[in-house]
Amino acid sequence: MRSTLFLSSLVFGLAAASPLHRRQELDISDYEDAVAAGADSAAVAPVGDAVPEEVVSYNPSVVASGIVAAITTVLPASATADAAGSVITANVKRNVVVCTTRTFNGPQVTAPADSDAAFLAYQGFTDAATDAAKSANIPRGYAVVPGYVNLKASPQDPSYLTYVSSRLTFYDTTQCAALCDAMAGCTSFVTYFERVPLLISPVTQTPDGSICPATSTSPSATLIKCAFFGLPLRVETATNAGQYQGSFHVVIAGANAYTKSTGPSVDGYEGPVAFGNASINAPAPVIEHGYLRTQTFGSNVPFDVSLCAASCQAQTDYNAKHGTFGGQACVFFNAYVLYKNGANGVFTCAYYGTPYGVAYAKNKGQKDGSGNVFTVGSSFGYYADGHYVE
Ligand SMILES: *[C@@H]1O[C@H](CO)[C@@H](O)[C@H](O)[C@H]1NC(C)=O
Repeated sequence: MRSTLFLSSLVFGLAAASPLHRRQELDISDYEDAVAAGADSAAVAPVGDAVPEEVVSYNPSVVASGIVAAITTVLPASATADAAGSVITANVKRNVVVCTTRTFNGPQVTAPADSDAAFLAYQGFTDAATDAAKSANIPRGYAVVPGYVNLKASPQDPSYLTYVSSRLTFYDTTQCAALCDAMAGCTSFVTYFERVPLLISPVTQTPDGSICPATSTSPSATLIKCAFFGLPLRVETATNAGQYQGSFHVVIAGANAYTKSTGPSVDGYEGPVAFGNASINAPAPVIEHGYLRTQTFGSNVPFDVSLCAASCQAQTDYNAKHGTFGGQACVFFNAYVLYKNGANGVFTCAYYGTPYGVAYAKNKGQKDGSGNVFTVGSSFGYYADGHYVE
């Protein structure tokens, strides 16, 4: 069984405000580390059900405690947090005797042929996906990812959390939205049809080269799946178009992606206040205007503002105890996704001792020395109770 793997370094940018930072810039210095942190995590939902449907291993309280520990031990210059992640490995015995017919939950495509081409052209998949993208049918609290309707690929993104299949009885985006709502860190999901081999080993749940090899003419089954992700999806992530199992072509059709249309809420804070695609630009010099620091999370860490709330509180406690930043309390944070050249988002939070309203959300991006463009997406403000400002 695969599990979402969190590397030990989840938090990179604990870049604190200093007199050197006259203007508030995006924290791009830690971006590459943050992307690298997610590189080893599962980025796509596995094909078929060769592995049991996964258990999400993202545990906000474990990650948050690592963040708090990082702040209280090594603030303010720079810090890294350790957070335990669990890796569950498969333990499969290879005592296969006969093949079996897998269970499946989608319509089998056998006409005009049981082939990859027939599957990709199947009108029923197009109809289901197109219908589920109509505004009346979009799950409450979600928006269709622009351009991600009826595609022939699922997303590839390090913020992948888990998938479901067997509990779906049809192309049920409403149920997938409800599952996402109940899942820690879930921000977006994709629903799709997957063509898989019908005959599999009962032990491995995949074709077996010796007793039921997968060939180009092996009969197929259709799985309906929903895969869940921790960051907002963009259409550019639709790159997982399938694979070969033996010479059987696994393909995907009717993929629709949905992202939550507002930020999550968190206890103790008013918000989210939508800042669109811009982060807060505190007046210069920022150190005299309540800017405390910016924190960049690994690319496998979901858009989970409870992490920022824990970090903000830890900063408050630390400042009070040590007199850093004049003993200011952290009363406001700005959570957003930082993108490089429009892709590979990383979750980021900036912390303040002064609350700023939407009028200060002016930083839409900047370039680095090599011409890379860093931009902001899904930006929201959170105000400690009693500190809300327009
Ligand atoms: C933010 O950027 C995304 C991607 O470019 C775009 O689809 C969306 O409309 C933008 N949102 C706002 C509020 O400008």
